[in-house]
Amino acid sequence: MITKIYHIKANNEPRRIISEAAKCLINGGLVAFPTETVYGIGANALSDEAVKKIYIAKGRPSDNPLIAHIHDIKEVGKYAVDIPPVAYKIMDKFWPGPLTIIFKRSNLISDTITGGLNTIALRIPSNEIARQLIAEANIPIAAPSANISGRPSPTDVNHVIEDLEGKVDIIIDGGPTDIGLESTVLDVTTTIPTILRPGKITKNMLEAVIGEVRLDDALTISDHNIIPRAPGMKYKHYAPKGRLILVEGEEDLSIKQINKWVKEKEASGHKVAIISTSENVDQYQCHIVKIIGSKDNHDQIAANLFAILRQMDEENIEFIYTRAFIEEDIGFATMNRLTKAAGNKKVLID
Ligand code: TXA
Ligand code: MG
Repeated sequence: MITKIYHIKANNEPRRIISEAAKCLINGGLVAFPTETVYGIGANALSDEAVKKIYIAKGRPSDNPLIAHIHDIKEVGKYAVDIPPVAYKIMDKFWPGPLTIIFKRSNLISDTITGGLNTIALRIPSNEIARQLIAEANIPIAAPSANISGRPSPTDVNHVIEDLEGKVDIIIDGGPTDIGLESTVLDVTTTIPTILRPGKITKNMLEAVIGEVRLDDALTISDHNIIPRAPGMKYKHYAPKGRLILVEGEEDLSIKQINKWVKEKEASGHKVAIISTSENVDQYQCHIVKIIGSKDNHDQIAANLFAILRQMDEENIEFIYTRAFIEEDIGFATMNRLTKAAGNKKVLID
C-alpha cells in the first residue's frame, strides 16, 4: 500500500486534507492523525472490517480493546448506557482533552472494538486536526496509539512514518504532540471511579470535581499476580531494544553508582547512554547523555520521554541508565511508562 503523507502547518488551510482523510475513514480506510497526547491510527469504529485492519497494521493482540474517539458529548448516549451522573461532571470539565472514560456499552458497539468486554472507552480529543477530522467523518473513530504494538507511542510524525508507512492509507502530520503520554483512562462503571491508566489528568484533578477516585491496584502494588483492568496495561510496553536500568535513591549516591556502571560497560565495549535532567547533566560521565528536561518541569519530561526511548533504538544503545523522576502531576504517568519500559524493575540505591 502506498501511504499518502500530508503536512498540516498551523496556518495552513487544512480543509481539503481533512475532507479526503474523512472520506477515507468512512470508506473503511486507515488514517494516522495527531491528538494532543500521541498520534493515533484511526478507523471507522462502526465497521468490524475497518477495525480489524488496525489490529493487523499494529500487530496488536485482539483482546486489547480500542478507544472510540468522538467529537461531541451528545454522541456519548449512542454508544454508552447506564451513564452515571459523575460522568457528566467529568465530561463537562475535562472534554475535549486527554481523558478516556470507560462506560457500559450500547448494542451499536461490536466485540471487535471492545475485545469482547461489555464496556466501551470513549474520548473527545482537543487537538484541532483530530476534532475536525472526527466531526467531518461524523462517525466514531477507533484509534489506538499509532505505533507497532510494544513500541513507545508516537509523539512526532516521524515515529508514525517509521512504524506505519505502507500499512495505512494516510498519515497527517500536525507537528509534535503537546502532552506526549497517552490519555488518562478512567472507569466510571465501578462504584468508586477507577483510574486504569495514569496521564495528564491526575487523580487529584478528578477528585476536585467528583470526590473519591481510586487507582487500579496494578498501578500501586508491584505484584505480578495482579492483572490490570485495562487489558493494554498488561502487555510488555515501550521497552527499548537495549536494557533500561531505572535507579531510585539519593541523588549523589545514585549518580556515582550510575557512573561506575557506565564505566564498566563502556570498558567492555558496550554502547551506553544516560537519560538526565538538565540539572544533573554535568555530573554524569558517559559518552552519550540525553537531556529529558528540567527536573521540576514534569510536563517537559513527559513530552520528551517516548522520543528519547526511540532515539536509543536508533542509536543501538545496549544499556540505558536513568534516575527516577518526581511522581507529581503528570510525573506519576511518566514513571508508570518508564517503569514498564524498564521491565517493571527499579534498582534502589541506599
Ligand atoms: O491518548 C490516547 O488515549 C491515545 C490517543 C490516540 O487517543 N490512544 C491510546 O489508545 O493510547 P491505546 O489503544 O494505545 O490505549 C488504550 C488503552 C489500552 O490500555 C486499553 O487496554 C484500554 O485503554 N482500554 C480500552 N478500552 C477499554 C475497556 N473497555 N476497558 C478497559 N480498558 C480499556
Ligand atoms: Mg498504545
